[in-house]
Amino acid sequence: MEMREMLYEGKAKKVYATEDPDLLIVSYKDDATAFNGKKKGTITGKGAINNRVTNFMMQRLEEQGVPTHFVEELNDRETVVKKVEIVPLEVIIRNISAGSFAKRYGVEEGIPFENPTIEFSYKNDDLDDPLINEYHIQALKLATPEEVDTIKKMAFKVNAVMKEFFAQRNVDLVDFKLEFGKTSDGTIVLADEISPDTCRFWDSETHEKLDKDRFRRDLGNVEDAYDEMLKRIIG
Ligand code: TMP
Repeated sequence: MEMREMLYEGKAKKVYATEDPDLLIVSYKDDATAFNGKKKGTITGKGAINNRVTNFMMQRLEEQGVPTHFVEELNDRETVVKKVEIVPLEVIIRNISAGSFAKRYGVEEGIPFENPTIEFSYKNDDLDDPLINEYHIQALKLATPEEVDTIKKMAFKVNAVMKEFFAQRNVDLVDFKLEFGKTSDGTIVLADEISPDTCRFWDSETHEKLDKDRFRRDLGNVEDAYDEMLKRIIG
């Protein structure tokens, strides 16, 4: 294998340079962390599942008019993507109360919302990804107002497409986190991943959790949940 320059290693993925300055390779790891890295573990087979699931979802979204960074799946855990400058925001859409929303506002998990919500976190591990509003985003020059508008429209479109997609597979899309990037010509595209690491998936009938909450909350059968989601998504 040719030598590749690793540009960055994150908690769940490594990023490599390619000969084309506009393209990168991402490599998905089986490493799992939670609570900003305070909890660490391994979910065997997760890297390959998240690679497959992310690429499958990004291709479905492209078909529905959502531009993404996806270029080409190389093998079971590696994918070629467009090089982008990541907008340092975690964009969270929620359809049902859960997780930090339920905790922050003192409500139970599982309350369906009439309309989806959106919130932003400032992507900064040293600060524990604090919640941030659109005025703060402008003050810190993290994105322009036009970019934030584009990101919001794209995020709700992603939600509409994915909610319907998962409903057909007997899965409630509870909430999820997206990241966006800017290509060299300034176009905003969907980046990062869409996987059981970054979404909450509940079985529509039993409400069984089929996502990373099984790891975060020590619920057991973590690998089984990832396998089950791969099966429901790709068959
Ligand atoms: P939260 O309820 O903990 O704020 O999480 C909302 C959604 O975002 C949930 O689907 C999990 C996902 N998420 C990430 O992808 N990365 C993170 O670091 C966190 C905290 C949440």
